[in-house]
Amino acid sequence: MTDNLAAQFLLDPAVTFLNHGSYGACPKPVFAAYHDWQLQLERQPVAFLDPMRGYGRWMRAAREALAAELGADPADLVGQMNATAALNIVAQSLPLREGDEILTTDHEYAALDKTWAYVARRTGARIVRVKVPLPLTSEAAFTETLLSGLGPRTRVLFLSHVTSATALLFPIARAVAEVRARGIWTVIDGAHAPGQIPLSLDALGADFYAGNCHKWMMAPKGAAFLHVRRDMQRLVNPLIISHGWSEDLHAPGTAGAFGNTPFIDSLEMQGTRDPAAFLTVPAALDFAHAHGWDEVRARCRDLIDRTEARVAALTGLAPFSTPQFRAPQMASMRIPRRDPRALQVMLLERHGIEIPCFDWEDNTIVRVSAQGYNTAAQMDLLVEALSAILT
Ligand SMILES: Cc1ncc(COP(=O)(O)O)c(C=O)c1O
Repeated sequence: MTDNLAAQFLLDPAVTFLNHGSYGACPKPVFAAYHDWQLQLERQPVAFLDPMRGYGRWMRAAREALAAELGADPADLVGQMNATAALNIVAQSLPLREGDEILTTDHEYAALDKTWAYVARRTGARIVRVKVPLPLTSEAAFTETLLSGLGPRTRVLFLSHVTSATALLFPIARAVAEVRARGIWTVIDGAHAPGQIPLSLDALGADFYAGNCHKWMMAPKGAAFLHVRRDMQRLVNPLIISHGWSEDLHAPGTAGAFGNTPFIDSLEMQGTRDPAAFLTVPAALDFAHAHGWDEVRARCRDLIDRTEARVAALTGLAPFSTPQFRAPQMASMRIPRRDPRALQVMLLERHGIEIPCFDWEDNTIVRVSAQGYNTAAQMDLLVEALSAILT
């Protein structure tokens, strides 16, 4: 059994931290590597920010390490600040017209719902939202529901891989294949996927896939990526036009301004900035590899399985899915309706537990996360606190 890793993290030991899902947490050696990159930048900013001699080379090394982890070609992946930024690039690039339809679900992250609403408003496209039947128990039912939302004007399928509010692991592979075969763009929000579930982006074949490295991969905050199939890169335009852009960006045979592909150079060059978080991704991967992460993940999954079952027994409210379709390290547990903000404050102030509580559709939810620093005793504390508050 892997030892508990709490001593490796910077989290406040006075808090029972059960909310890795919101912003992640960075281990000490990874944070030290991040700090080293920042010191190097500050010592010689001109040399560091040289796109050819300085950080351009190191960004390439980080992309290569990340691509190897994600089953992707490094030429198809570019570093971004966060999943929201990466998905905005895609949503605001696609050439949508009035009457086109964007098919999505009722489980999407609120900020991205806003992104597509903004795009719909500017283009005249329409959002079609299917309701995923709960409990989620089969890939066939999930795929059928999505296909039932397709129409002659559907141009985009937008789906989370792991959902935020409901912590479901959507079985997206068949839906992606079926929808792509109809010539519809597939855009996947993988904010919670890297580091939590094994990914093989080339095998999945989605047109556009964005993921965070600062959540479950434990990189510092501000490390994420956008992966785009080679044949779709001609559709992508940066939101910020800078030195990496050129008039003939999408003309066949155009070279990138800084020695990479035009796709990478146009998205990576965004003015003066601190790229240290993305440069630290290889250190985060090294940390996971050095600590036997398959075993850590299995231990966390076990903690979550048990906690979810105990809370369901306490409330009598069934989970949103069978365990197969739940995020491995996160569970959104239904509790009897109450003010979620007051509950969250009570859990923190009275019991020292940091955990998100919120309403989703007609449910009040407590979403528990487990990472390598969490323990069974912390889960006991949560179950005891919920028991005291709810009964
Ligand atoms: C499903 C989903 N998408 C997108 C995001 C946004 O991530 P970020 O704030 O890193 O852009 C989150 C954040 O929790 C999320 O859960």
